[in-house]
Parts: sequence; structure tokens; C-alpha cells
Amino acid sequence: MRKTVIAANWKMHKNLSETEEYGQKLMTLLASPLDAEVVICPAFTSLQVLSKTLEKSPVKIGAQNLFWENSGAYTGEISAPLLLDCGCRYVIVGHSERRHLMNESDASINRKLKAALNNSLIPIFCVGETLPERQNNMARQVIKEQLSRGLDEVSLTEGKIVIAYEPVWAIGTGINANPDDAQEMIAFIRETLAGLYNMELAQSISILYGGSVKTDNIADFMDKKDIDGALVGGASLNVHDFARIVRLGK
Ligand code: G3H
Repeated sequence: MRKTVIAANWKMHKNLSETEEYGQKLMTLLASPLDAEVVICPAFTSLQVLSKTLEKSPVKIGAQNLFWENSGAYTGEISAPLLLDCGCRYVIVGHSERRHLMNESDASINRKLKAALNNSLIPIFCVGETLPERQNNMARQVIKEQLSRGLDEVSLTEGKIVIAYEPVWAIGTGINANPDDAQEMIAFIRETLAGLYNMELAQSISILYGGSVKTDNIADFMDKKDIDGALVGGASLNVHDFARIVRLGK
């Protein structure tokens, strides 16, 4: 039985007071027992205050990025031990905005995944094709390469990683993938993981869909047999919408 994971990626939004207000409201909205693992990934600056606000709640905290070294002269970078110290349990790795805007390579993503796992942080490892890649029937090949390069020499056991399939063309555009297409790609990701590791491990890994998830489409994704949750950007910024997505995503 795989864990359902509903994760919020706030990206570069919310200051400290907005974070605290959101956290307090979320505690109220999600006060009854949760079926899903709920993760909020705020900006680095909000990690500590969110962690404090949610300390009595089952909601977990995640970061949006990390550096692969544990400490040292790396100006502007944040390490896994520093994230753990702020209360993080999860960290997003390989988001397409970092791949495309910050030129993150599969090799650096691989080092980040290893750093997260070595420090017992659960990576939410993002993969996804661009629109031209999809139009040129290259989506599967791109995803397979992102997975095999990102996970090169990464040893995995059950519960140590979450994968997010986020087609780049669906992110922040309001144009979500068709749930059947998302199911097909996520089944392909699971098949690829079975090839890289084994079927038992592949069957145990939660794989999320991300890209314009909203209150009115989450249920269609969650109906699909291989889709185990969602990575939610824009719609997670409104606490009422996010709480509703959590309830609908169980
Ligand atoms: O990490 C989240 C994704 O980039 C999805 O963002 O829900 O705003 O499309 P979105």
C-alpha cells in the first residue's frame, strides 16, 4: 500500500507573517485525522517559522532545494544538515524551474539526491518533459534519462524517496495534463524504476503528478491507479484551496 502524498511548493512566495498566518489556518482546516502525508515546501526564509507553527500538527515541512556538501565555503548554498535543523523532513530536487532557469544538470541533481538520502531527508525528485519534447514523441526517452542519470549509483529502500512527474508545459499554465496521459507517464516511470531497481521497490514508491493541479481536477488524477498524490504550486498558496485539495486527494 503506497503512501498518498500531497505536497505544496510555494516557490518564491510568502513572507514570515503570511507564512505564520497560513500555518495557523492550515492547523484548523486539517484538524481532523489525515489520510495523506501533507508536506509544505516554503521558501528557505520561512522554514523555521512554519516548522514552529506546525510543530503539533502531522503536516511535514520540506525545502525547495539543497546543496550536496554538508558544510563549507559555498556562499549562498544551504545543506541537508541545515535543513534538518530547520525542521525539514523532505526536499524537492530537480524541479524543472531549477533545471531550466538555474541550469541544473542531471549530474548535480544526482549529487543532491545522494546528499538528501545520506542525511535522511526524503527527496521529492521531479522529472518532466517540455512541450517540444512531447510533440516530438521524446517524452518517455527524456523521463527515462532524467531518472537513470539522477538515480545513478543511488541506493534506495522503501519509503526513502518520492517522485513527481511534472510535465513542464503544465506548470503554472493552467493547462493540466490529461489524467489518462499522466497515468500513462507515471506507469512508465514505475516501469523504469522497476528496471533500475526491482518491481517490489518500484511498487512501493509514491509517484505524484504536478502541473496546474486545482480543487476541481485533483480527484480526476487521484482516481488513476498509479498516481499517488500531487505536487501543487499556485493552488497551494491559498490555504483553503490547498486544504480542499488535501481532503479530495486522500
Ligand atoms: O512544484 C509545483 C509545480 O511546479 C506545479 O506548479 O501547480 O503552479 O502548475 P503549478
